[in-house]
Amino acid sequence: MTPATLRETMSRFATGVIVLSVGGEHIHGMTANAFSSVSLDPPKVLCCVSHSAVMHKSVLSAGRFGISILGAEQEALARHFADKKRPLGPEQFSGLDWRPGAITGAPLLHGALAWLECELSENHDANDHSIFLGEVVNSGVSADRAGLLFFNGVFQQVHPVST
Ligand SMILES: Cc1cc2nc3c(=O)[nH]c(=O)nc-3n(C[C@H](O)[C@H](O)[C@H](O)COP(=O)(O)O)c2cc1C
Repeated sequence: MTPATLRETMSRFATGVIVLSVGGEHIHGMTANAFSSVSLDPPKVLCCVSHSAVMHKSVLSAGRFGISILGAEQEALARHFADKKRPLGPEQFSGLDWRPGAITGAPLLHGALAWLECELSENHDANDHSIFLGEVVNSGVSADRAGLLFFNGVFQQVHPVST
């Protein structure tokens, strides 16, 4: 196995795209797709974060985080929060429309399809990443529009069908 082989293999697994965020003095946002629901009762989700990401320290320091599930029109935001050259601190959110989560204060992006607020409940080390489990303390759905996907190494869109 090589990293390139695994990257290509996993690229066939379509995922949504989120912005993981932390508020307050550690304010920070980061694009991620290693995000999953874990259980409904208790309500838990997980996100895998690289040890080398600024976000790693931010989540551990704050002990809580927010998730904005991006819509198809938010590809530019996904690129922004994945860009190592973006400014750090509050400046990375300047010009963006967001609100602090009512419980965690984590920035939740306007226009996201849905959002969650989490208290960090477990942190498992997995080599160069940490698996952060969050207990969901607040969540909501904002819109029923097309979603942003990451599939085959590129951003794509998925359109809801009426049920
Ligand atoms: C589509 C996409 C998905 C990503 N998923 C993750 C992820 O799940 N975990 C992670 O640590 N980095 C992920 N990244 C990379 C980070 O967004 C990127 O390294 C970012 O600059 C890290 O920010 P920070 O070091 O300022 O916290 C992803 C990037 C893209 C474009």
